[in-house]
Amino acid sequence: MTYVVTENCIKCKFTDCVEVCPVDCFYEGENFLVINPDECIDCGVCEPECPADAIRPDTEPDLEKWLEINAKFGEIWPNITMKKEQMGDAEDWDGKTSKLQYLSEEPGEGD
Ligand code: SF4
Ligand code: F3S
Repeated sequence: MTYVVTENCIKCKFTDCVEVCPVDCFYEGENFLVINPDECIDCGVCEPECPADAIRPDTEPDLEKWLEINAKFGEIWPNITMKKEQMGDAEDWDGKTSKLQYLSEEPGEGD
């Protein structure tokens, strides 16, 4: 199993999660982060750190789509290990539904 980043991270990207990961397996897109499922050791420490409650174990139902997204971009986007400023209007986007349509495939800057 692995943990995955899910929809509510989109356009929020608080990045608290990256600081606690013991194996540095977070990767940064323009407006979203992913976990590389091949590198995640399932420790679970990142899950409670996310202010947007966007991190989930893939054992929860209906996460196949998010596992695919995490696996795909975890191979492409740059690694991020240090917290940075959340997105400008993160507080407004936190909790909004149907955010998948806004997911950018562009890479972020990484560390
Ligand atoms: Fe990193 Fe652990 Fe979170 Fe996996 S569950 S992404 S290893 S902190
Ligand atoms: Fe995203 Fe939450 Fe990390 S919003 S960047 S998964 S702290």
